[in-house]
Amino acid sequence: MGKHLLKLSDLHTDEIIAILDRAQMFCQGIDIPNFSDKIACNLFFEPSTRTQYSFNVAEEKLGMRVISFNPAASSLNKSESFYDTVKTFDSFGVDAIVIRHKVNEYYNELLGHIDAAILNGGDGTGNHPTQSLLDLLTIRQEFGSFAGLKCVIAGDIVHSRVAHTNYEVMRRLGMEVVTAGPAEFLEDSLESEDFDHAVKTADIVMMLRIQRERHAASMSMSGEEFHRAYGLTVEREKTMKDRAIIMHPAPVNRDVELADCLMECDRARIFKQMQNGVFVRMAVLERAVKR
Ligand code: NCD
Repeated sequence: MGKHLLKLSDLHTDEIIAILDRAQMFCQGIDIPNFSDKIACNLFFEPSTRTQYSFNVAEEKLGMRVISFNPAASSLNKSESFYDTVKTFDSFGVDAIVIRHKVNEYYNELLGHIDAAILNGGDGTGNHPTQSLLDLLTIRQEFGSFAGLKCVIAGDIVHSRVAHTNYEVMRRLGMEVVTAGPAEFLEDSLESEDFDHAVKTADIVMMLRIQRERHAASMSMSGEEFHRAYGLTVEREKTMKDRAIIMHPAPVNRDVELADCLMECDRARIFKQMQNGVFVRMAVLERAVKR
């Protein structure tokens, strides 16, 4: 049985650091394995550009053969269940199955029934382990280590699997993590701070997309109002610390959570995060299929 990657809270910090070390080697082109005897299968039941296609690139870089699944053209339209769909690909004998699905912890119903390694590409509002790993790799490349760094995660916290995953793992690694945003998007169990104060004092300002597809009711503010009150505007960016960086998991709603002109400014690491996504996904695929 392969090694699943379901949520980072299952992994000891030593194992997280080991994955980052391996990803850093791949980033430098060192010791890239060849898994041409392995087949990976990407099952994305929710839309995805970065996660889906960077897994695809990572699989290609490892020499794996890749099956990409199109839910719209599958037997899901003949009322086949999620479980039976995944079990079908597992029956084909694939080695790794990457899954994204809107149900939190969708993987629980699969565990014990699937031989392939399951790699979680995002479950509902729950977990997004590879996104956090690529965020951590980007932060470590920038600052060398984690302890003592302050990160503010800002925006639609309650609907964000990125916020939930990062909050837990970053704190475990000794970082100070606070959330910020309108009350309707915050969570009582997560520490929050005034956004302007957080922007001035953080080493990492991580902005999130407003996840309208997960909202039961429409947001009380317009995009423009949100930008003025809680977005990283041109004025707020000027108050950031000298070496502080801007991150965002993307897709970005320009001029809502982030001013359009900041997307590729000197402090922005948004495309760097995407680049690192390939290397961390290579590392977790290796962990999943290596015997
Ligand atoms: C995020 C996701 O899907 O959770 N995107 C990503 O994977 N890079 C965040 C988002 O959709 O806003």
